[in-house]
Amino acid sequence: MTVSRQPLDMRRSKVFGEVAETYDASRAGYPSALVSTVLDYADLGDRPAVESGAGTGKATVPFAAALGDSPLLCVEPDARMAAVLRRNTADRPNVRIHVGPFEEWHPGDTRFGLLFAATSWHWLDPDRRWDLVHDALAPGGAVALFWNPQGVLDPHLHAALAEVDRRHGLTITPHAELSSSYGDTPGHWPGMLGHWPDAECRQDGRFTDLRSLRIREQAHYDTDRYLGHLASVSLYRALPADRRDRALADTAAVLDAHGGGIDVEHHHDLFLSRRR
Ligand SMILES: C[S@@+](CC[C@H](N)C(=O)[O-])C[C@H]1O[C@@H](n2cnc3c(N)ncnc32)[C@H](O)[C@@H]1O
Repeated sequence: MTVSRQPLDMRRSKVFGEVAETYDASRAGYPSALVSTVLDYADLGDRPAVESGAGTGKATVPFAAALGDSPLLCVEPDARMAAVLRRNTADRPNVRIHVGPFEEWHPGDTRFGLLFAATSWHWLDPDRRWDLVHDALAPGGAVALFWNPQGVLDPHLHAALAEVDRRHGLTITPHAELSSSYGDTPGHWPGMLGHWPDAECRQDGRFTDLRSLRIREQAHYDTDRYLGHLASVSLYRALPADRRDRALADTAAVLDAHGGGIDVEHHHDLFLSRRR
């Protein structure tokens, strides 16, 4: 597979709050095996953790539970996402929330034992993100960056959805890949090609013990939840409302004709490294 780096449209980083509740209700979370892998690697001791781009808390909630009393600071720029995050972590006194972009947040005198970003690292300024992470971490502190893309399990449904996407001029939708096309290499999927953090981190040179891992997990979405998921994806949010509605209606018709939902396999791809 050729690795090319397509620039991201950073304006799309600001669309999630438009549908914060839908996002929270329909998006997949992250498995406990990922959380324990990250925390074992970080070996925090009494150092705090920080999360960039916490959204509504899909990763925050299981991390905060696993952290027990250890402090977790969440940085999230969108006040509407942060409001849902606040509700989802109301029973977690170890969680604090800072509303603002990660690029404008300062760690002050605190140096963290772990910085993690779930499906959000790609929205940080590529020219500054490794400096920001380096400055926030204590020596030996861990970085954990992860995504949970999915592949469609049924080739017939995949072909029918691809036809809808073609008709609406959509590429790299969440159902654009068959699960079998992911192969075995973490970070090796079309939406990520050229963006997997390993090369950038290696080139930076201030981090060590680089690892890439994958955890697979199957899931079923009924039609309504899957449409909510699509409606929360930046690619669909960037469409004019009438085009988005038509694309979602045609997708719903295909799902309903295939039993009323979609079976997918999430590929929870995780990158780890630590400050030297
Ligand atoms: C796809 S969502 C992921 C949310 C959550 N981590 C999850 O896994 O569901 C991307 C998140 O990154 C946030 N984000 C965008 N730009 C950011 C920035 N400059 N600094 C920190 N977070 C940012 C968005 O507001 C959004 O909540």
